Amino acid sequence: MQILVTGGLGFIGSHTALLLKEAGHDVVIVDNLSNSKLDVLQRIKKISNVDYKFYKADVTDEAKMKEIFARNKFDGIIHFAGLKAVSESISKPLEYYYNNVVSTLCLIKCALEYNVERFVFSSSATVYGENDSPLKEDMKLGLTTNPYGETKVINEKILRDVSVAYPHMAISLLRYFNPIGAHPSGLLGEAPNGLPNNLMPFITQVASNKIKSLKVFGNDYETVDGTGVRDYIHVMDLAKGHIKALENIKIGVNVYNLGTGKGTSVLELINAFEKINNIKIPYEIVERRKGDVAACFADATKAYKELGWKAELTIEDMVRDAWNFEKDYK
Ligand code: NAD
Ligand code: WQD
Repeated sequence: MQILVTGGLGFIGSHTALLLKEAGHDVVIVDNLSNSKLDVLQRIKKISNVDYKFYKADVTDEAKMKEIFARNKFDGIIHFAGLKAVSESISKPLEYYYNNVVSTLCLIKCALEYNVERFVFSSSATVYGENDSPLKEDMKLGLTTNPYGETKVINEKILRDVSVAYPHMAISLLRYFNPIGAHPSGLLGEAPNGLPNNLMPFITQVASNKIKSLKVFGNDYETVDGTGVRDYIHVMDLAKGHIKALENIKIGVNVYNLGTGKGTSVLELINAFEKINNIKIPYEIVERRKGDVAACFADATKAYKELGWKAELTIEDMVRDAWNFEKDYK
């Protein structure tokens, strides 16, 4: 299949583009480089020793996207492009709503006009809000606490409405849990601009002395050691989940959790990092972060039953690969 990968130079998109090629698909990447560098294109070429067609374009630019659809014959779309920083979304709600919602509207319009029937969307566990874990796909969605999360809820709703009006469309909503880790080559990984928002890049930047110490947000949750519990998933497993989702896509809207089904606390993640990489991570316990829940992990059985996919890599693999990328990253 020829697959359009929007946001294909970002963290998850770049790993997925690579695995799509390995699985024998043709890949066309569109990215506006708002949160990635062109250098990633050279890196995926280097790893796979093949070329990738790339357009520097904004997915919200309908005229430009139509041009790209006219020039190619896509069989499917994986839509990663989006802004994703929770705290930034609170200070820049308009940018987040515009970018994350209009991009999907543009893509769906193009898909309908150019008869592309497969559409895979990057959703998030954030749509479950404060529901108790393990989280299941058929749960009623929870209340989101920030504009970023709300854009995922809105996108899911838009895609459900599209499916009612255009029943020939096959749409998958993939709800990712906490993707971390990196490609085993050390060439691809998560390289956030500025101060990281998420725990894993924060840990690796403390390890490389870019940041002095880590702040652990609360140790009084009802969890194994009082710190927040999350379902960390290796980005390579997550990327594989996209290939399975695309190859097994069904008509209508289907929702899948992409997580491991296992929770790991902040302290457990720090300990695993220290043990595997033999580096001490200085940290201090501070107040809880607003909007955080105590525990968030998937019931990951649906993706296994229907797509034949399950996460295979361990927390040890994740912390080793994350550090392997960060330590040499320039
Ligand atoms: P990322 O920021 O690394 O990648 C997103 C890419 O999209 C970037 O390369 C950016 O330049 C590009 N982009 C953004 N807006 C664009 C636009 N309008 N036109 C063209 N390109 C645009 O993020 P990621 O971690 O790879 O996340 C990919 C998707 O998965 C996002 O939709 C994100 O919300 C979702 N998601 C991520 C996580 C996570 O923790 N990383 C969890 C759940 C869901
Ligand atoms: C993980 C744990 C923190 C940083 C976010 C989004 C979610 C999804 C994934 C996109 C929590 C603790 C963190 C730090 C800490 N993204 N922590 N010190 O909040 O589970 O999920 O990213 O869709 O929508 O909300 O991930 O990595 O920020 O936090 O103690 O400096 O680490 O409290 O328990 P989160 P995270």
